[in-house]
Amino acid sequence: MQINLKNKHVIITGASRGIGKAIAELLVSCGAKVALQYNKNKNSAEKVQKTLGPKAHLYQCDFSNGLEVNEFFNEVAEDFKRIDVLVNNAGIAIKSNPEKDDIAWIDDWLQTMDVNLNAVGLLSKKAIQHFKTHEGGSIINISSRAAFRGDTKDYMAYAASKAGIIGLTRSIARAYGKDNIKAFLIAPGFVRTGMARDFIEEYGEEYATKDLALDHMTEPKDIARFVAFLASGLADHATGGTFDVNAGSYVH
Ligand SMILES: NC(=O)c1ccc[n+]([C@@H]2O[C@H](COP(=O)([O-])OP(=O)(O)OC[C@H]3O[C@@H](n4cnc5c(N)ncnc54)[C@H](O)[C@@H]3O)[C@@H](O)[C@H]2O)c1
Repeated sequence: MQINLKNKHVIITGASRGIGKAIAELLVSCGAKVALQYNKNKNSAEKVQKTLGPKAHLYQCDFSNGLEVNEFFNEVAEDFKRIDVLVNNAGIAIKSNPEKDDIAWIDDWLQTMDVNLNAVGLLSKKAIQHFKTHEGGSIINISSRAAFRGDTKDYMAYAASKAGIIGLTRSIARAYGKDNIKAFLIAPGFVRTGMARDFIEEYGEEYATKDLALDHMTEPKDIARFVAFLASGLADHATGGTFDVNAGSYVH
């Protein structure tokens, strides 16, 4: 069976590199029209857009600024007229342990929450309003294994922010199913991207691979395939579900 995303209009956040880029590539190859959001990596975002062609449209937005997030959604809705799927993929992982100075730690905590949780909450709210006046839609949130297993002391804020979107996703699924609005959570383990590279440089490759049941680390395309499946509507009766894509490193 081929995944068909023709006529699907999809927002993909954090699409300039890593997992978001792989999601964009696969969804366009399945026929979707995509709005690609990036923050600072203009050159690589433009490269992705150029490779994908006229089905891909680029938007710059800093998710640490709620007003910008709001405007970003409004702009896409105006350009695309109809949005069918929102993929909340953008995220940051700031190294920040509690031994740090209070103010610096709070700054890291708040920034993490702004990008990983508050922006996801606001975009989901906007998507729900939009879906309710159209024919429904789906929200796919990229969480993390860390939300369930916990993380190191350096990434407590990261784990907490990723845990926040579990409750958000499940609430949307329960509250808006009758409006044909679905919500899903994907919880990756280590995925070979720039974000994981920073972690591996810090803790070593062995730390990242020692828990894997499979023989190699998850690649961005492994997450992208799952997103394509969920975006297609073939798995709508799994709304509210969490999908672990972590090479068997944490099974719960
Ligand atoms: N790579 C992993 O091992 C891993 C594991 C579990 C979960 N995840 C999650 O998957 C998602 C993608 O991760 P990745 O590894 O591809 O990361 P990445 O660092 O390669 O890419 C992150 C993307 O988020 C965007 N972004 C960063 N800060 C932003 C901001 N302030 N405003 C708007 N956009 C911003 C960037 O432009 C980029 O496109 C993240 O939510 C991450 O937490 C990743």
